[in-house]
Amino acid sequence: MSVVIHKLSFYIPSFSYGTIMGALVLTPIVLPLLRTVEYMLRAYFSPARIVPGPSGGNLFFGHLGFIRDSPKGEWHEEVLKEHGHVLRYKAILGTDRLLTTDPKALNHVLANSMIYQRPGPIRYALDQLVGEGLLVAEGHTHKRQRRVMNPSFSSAHIKEMTEIFLEKAQELREVLLTQTLTSETSPSVRVDMLAYLTQATLDIIGLAGFNYSFNVLSNEQSELSKAFNAVLHPPRDFPVIQILKLQIPIFRYLLIFDQGSRDTREARRKMYTIGRELVQRKKAEVLEAKAAGDDAMRKSKDLLSLLIRSNMSQSGGGLSDDEVLHQIPTFLLAGHETTSTSTTWTLFSLATHPDVQRRLRSELLLVPTDTPTMGELDSLVYLDAVVRESLRHHSVVDGTIKVATTDDVVPLEKPFVGTDGKTRNAIKVSKGDSFFVPILMMNVIEPIWGPDGREFNPDRWLGEGPPKASQSLPSVWGGQMTFSAGPRSCIGFKFALIEMKALLFTLIRGFQFELAVAPEEVIRRSAAVTRPVIKSEIDKGGQMPMIIRPFSHT
Ligand code: HEM
Ligand SMILES: *[C@@H]1O[C@H](CO)[C@@H](O)[C@H](O)[C@H]1NC(C)=O
Ligand SMILES: *[C@@H]1O[C@H](CO)[C@@H](O)[C@H](O)[C@H]1NC(C)=O
Repeated sequence: MSVVIHKLSFYIPSFSYGTIMGALVLTPIVLPLLRTVEYMLRAYFSPARIVPGPSGGNLFFGHLGFIRDSPKGEWHEEVLKEHGHVLRYKAILGTDRLLTTDPKALNHVLANSMIYQRPGPIRYALDQLVGEGLLVAEGHTHKRQRRVMNPSFSSAHIKEMTEIFLEKAQELREVLLTQTLTSETSPSVRVDMLAYLTQATLDIIGLAGFNYSFNVLSNEQSELSKAFNAVLHPPRDFPVIQILKLQIPIFRYLLIFDQGSRDTREARRKMYTIGRELVQRKKAEVLEAKAAGDDAMRKSKDLLSLLIRSNMSQSGGGLSDDEVLHQIPTFLLAGHETTSTSTTWTLFSLATHPDVQRRLRSELLLVPTDTPTMGELDSLVYLDAVVRESLRHHSVVDGTIKVATTDDVVPLEKPFVGTDGKTRNAIKVSKGDSFFVPILMMNVIEPIWGPDGREFNPDRWLGEGPPKASQSLPSVWGGQMTFSAGPRSCIGFKFALIEMKALLFTLIRGFQFELAVAPEEVIRRSAAVTRPVIKSEIDKGGQMPMIIRPFSHT
């Protein structure tokens, strides 16, 4: 005993200022090491270690470099060919990532959202951007949020937003028309359709989301769009710092070299101040309307008002004011670029398939009004086939990562052979193992879609319809994985579909679209959402240069 005490007293004085400083300085070095060791050990002990996979890869980034350099999923496809339909590759810091095209396994992962969650680093990054709204929440918090929010996205409500979609589509048509009239090459003009559609969809999500006028199409600079942009596109941290902050939580508190994130915090504060005002105003409006009776209640039809109404009708178990607040940037982030890039890629496919464009236009011109209802838009058979095919073919959210939060057994439709030579009917995973859910790949692979799965062909949705095999895909809409599946599938898919249809309806009736560059110059650049970039101008970021010409009926 006395020896122990003696030892203790020997050690205690050594906790000097120097030691503490030393520990503080060393922590950032030691922690990553421990973290790496933990990762490596996990890979070593996980039952998933017998899953076969490619070797090689970078010490820090594993195979992620290959994946980044094959934006159409070519690398994934290649390794699947080599190793079979269940495999394992290396992600950051030597971590394992499982990849499978087995529909039953993917169904299991996506259906069990309590077990399979977003990776911590991605959650952290999203939380920094938009707070704990529907994209970030997990477990029971997510379940509660989703239950209260689901009604706002019902078909009946989206129907009422169709007017907003069409109004903004028409405003875009007018802006483009002015461009063609003032052009030297009149009546045709070169425009960046990605930029215009990004403006239009921001205006739309502002109005339909919370009755807020961004008016970016008419060149206004609203406070909210400025703040949101500053949050969304922060000045870059040094990449190394960025990665450390994502991977190792303690770095998130070290703000040295970090002016960027201080400005971002400032912008975020501003964004939330504006959001809070919106929530309070809407809340007051909803209460007022409630007092005035049914008719007044129906007047505000934006998502936020609907959400607050739904929240108020909950007997307990609703959302806190802050949770409601966090849905505002969540809608902006989830509903803005997804739709603008999807619509832009549709224009790309229509420009590279002039026959499809002509056929679509002739269907649309038969409609006697510029302002069809949702029902009328949905009854346009060829428009529906084009949208379906474009969403499948381009899949702008090309995959998602899910991490097991407990040990689990993932059932398979087709068995696989482990590196030990044994055949297995399921993948055993342990807590911490992660899956890449390959959305784009499942939307195009040959075993499901046939040999022309990578081609753009709206006809595949007409007549007999899509191949039977596609029915086994996990899906919330359209016999494809574009909006994912299960409790974490896209809540806004109906919103997105009618918005896209309204934009395409108006644009294709009004203009002829051609690419302004060779088709092979346009490449996919994946960063959460897959944007088009021009091969020789990658530094310029996303763009889709097109030549547009007003379409005259005669
Ligand atoms: C064509 C356009 C769109 C595509 C391709 C798309 C795709 C997706 C996908 C794949 C997910 C699942 C992401 C994951 O698991 O990591 C998702 C989630 C989500 N989307 Fe969309 N989306 C689109 C438009 C929209 C719109 C217009 C809104 C809102 C107005 C929206 C709101 C959301 C939200 C809030 C989530 C999170 C849902 C949850 O976790 O419960 N999306 N979307
Ligand atoms: C937006 O607010 C205005 C007045 O505050 C109201 O007249 C209009 O109906 C609202 N629009 C939506 C889509 O809720
Ligand atoms: C939502 O409902 C909860 C009660 O369930 C309430 O405390 C909260 O203030 C409401 N928030 C909004 C914005 O309506």
